[in-house]
Amino acid sequence: MEVNFKIYRFDPETDSKPYYRDYTITANPTDRILDCLNRIKWEQDGTLSYRMSCGHGVCGSDAMKINGRCALACQKLVKDYEGKEIILEPLPSYKVLKDLIVDLDPFFEKVKFVQPYLLSTTALPEKERLQSPENSKKLDIAIRCILCACCMGACPVLNENERFLGPAPLVWAFRYIFDSRDTQYLERLKQVDYSHGAWACVNYYECTRACPKEIPITKYINTIKREIQKSKDTNR
Ligand code: SF4
Ligand code: FES
Repeated sequence: MEVNFKIYRFDPETDSKPYYRDYTITANPTDRILDCLNRIKWEQDGTLSYRMSCGHGVCGSDAMKINGRCALACQKLVKDYEGKEIILEPLPSYKVLKDLIVDLDPFFEKVKFVQPYLLSTTALPEKERLQSPENSKKLDIAIRCILCACCMGACPVLNENERFLGPAPLVWAFRYIFDSRDTQYLERLKQVDYSHGAWACVNYYECTRACPKEIPITKYINTIKREIQKSKDTNR
């Protein structure tokens, strides 16, 4: 079948403003959007720029807007768009470096802010810090995050307010707040307890809908909010 694509193009070195370019390729309904992009680049237009690596929903590098929704190009199929023209655009909220490539440095800075690693003040054990199966189960969905930033692009609050910490950093905060091996529970709660932190989320659920790993992000943010309140009530 013939599939029509409309792709956002912008090279800040040569273009005064962004524009869209049309491409038509022959594809199977089960071809991934990433396969189509590769075919366009390899067979029709070598100047087209986008990120990709694993091709299997693991590296998180090919997040983009596909027909208005943030998603991974390697996880969406031609048949998901039912014969419609497929419009590809860069992730919203980030500066476009070229075509579908955005500058994700501000995203990674926000993830770094929540210290996404285990912090413990207890003495080093001989082998490893043990985690109970129950605690591991509580976190086993949160640890699926591949840092693709689909949730960040989809978040209406972040689209309006770039100071909002955003959904993915809050997923990482959740992951360590509730890790029984981490000793910085209160400090971590304080870190996200500010107007542009957990409290800026107003439950649009767009992040949850966009997450390719089906992480219940909004639910986790609400859990953090409740935990902040609980810690304040306890320490009153
Ligand atoms: Fe991507 Fe989901 Fe992680 Fe957000 S929470 S960065 S959408 S995997
Ligand atoms: Fe790695 Fe899509 S190319 S997640």
